[in-house]
Amino acid sequence: MSPDANEIEHAAELLRAGRLVAFPTETVYGLGGDATNGAAVAAIFRAKQRPVFNPLIVHLPDAGMVEDLVTLDQRASRVAARFWPGPLTLVLMRRAACPISLLASAGLDSLAIRVPAHPVAQALLRAAGRPIVAPSANRSGRISPTLAQHVRDELGDRVDLVLDGGACAIGLESTVLDLTEERPRLLRPGGLPAEALEAMLGPLAPPPAPAAEGEALPAPGMMSSHYAPTLPVRLAAVRPEQGEAFLAFGAVPPGIRSEANLSPSGDLAEAAAHLFSMLRDLDRPVFSGIAVMPIPMNGLGAAINDRLKRAAAPR
Ligand code: TXA
Ligand code: MG
Repeated sequence: MSPDANEIEHAAELLRAGRLVAFPTETVYGLGGDATNGAAVAAIFRAKQRPVFNPLIVHLPDAGMVEDLVTLDQRASRVAARFWPGPLTLVLMRRAACPISLLASAGLDSLAIRVPAHPVAQALLRAAGRPIVAPSANRSGRISPTLAQHVRDELGDRVDLVLDGGACAIGLESTVLDLTEERPRLLRPGGLPAEALEAMLGPLAPPPAPAAEGEALPAPGMMSSHYAPTLPVRLAAVRPEQGEAFLAFGAVPPGIRSEANLSPSGDLAEAAAHLFSMLRDLDRPVFSGIAVMPIPMNGLGAAINDRLKRAAAPR
């Protein structure tokens, strides 16, 4: 399942005309718009009902034009060379002549940049010929889409075209690494495990603690409630309570029923790929809530637990 060259060219034309196109990446589906067109960027915030203080990620087909946008020190160049294309977003300082809409970076001096590996994303970014901002293609605060159908369900006619590339292989958003300060800081655990970055950079500063409702944000995008299904979510559950859907991980204790299993063999990459679509599938009024078995914290487990914690946070 992949769009052909004509569909990619049509999508690129829409983007150049300031319209919005949803497209697959290896992490989640993105809602794309021309990063240099303030009206297109504003339309993305509107379509998602996203707060304008939460900046967007600029997507490029390769690192070729990155230095037109931001300054790279040696450390950033090494990280980019090693992990791009892939599930890593770097936050770097904008250049004075950076052509990206200021709204995209929510007025900050920094800019988040990602080079996705997905062939459809690659083809679209090349055809568009300009930087494309793309937040996850969901309504703000909700679960990110890992299928084209999720995007259609969430955004309907708020998006001009949805390119269908099938299921996203990783299924969790990119890891966001802030390289604007001396000590590299992990802003969002994601599809690239922090261990891989620490092997190159040494220990990372941890993400700032999430802000509660009504508090100032310690960093953009750090809302404590996010990735939220409609039903309440209960974590580290050993068995379902009456009425709850049980989302298992690994072996299910004998005699306990489960509605879905993130990975029967206990594989974290498989669990990451299933997480958002299973949460969506279980988010039905026949259940009173979703109870999730404990997930280990190593590797992709850190990002899975981060998303679950926000899905379970009070709203
Ligand atoms: O995997 C992904 O990253 C997906 C795909 C579509 O590329 N995109 C995505 O975008 O997850 P979004 O908008 O849902 O999340 C972007 C995150 C937010 O937490 C935002 O606050 C943070 O990146 N961010 C963006 N620009 C930033 C900046 N200048 N400084 C700090 N954080 C930034
Ligand atoms: Mg998002």
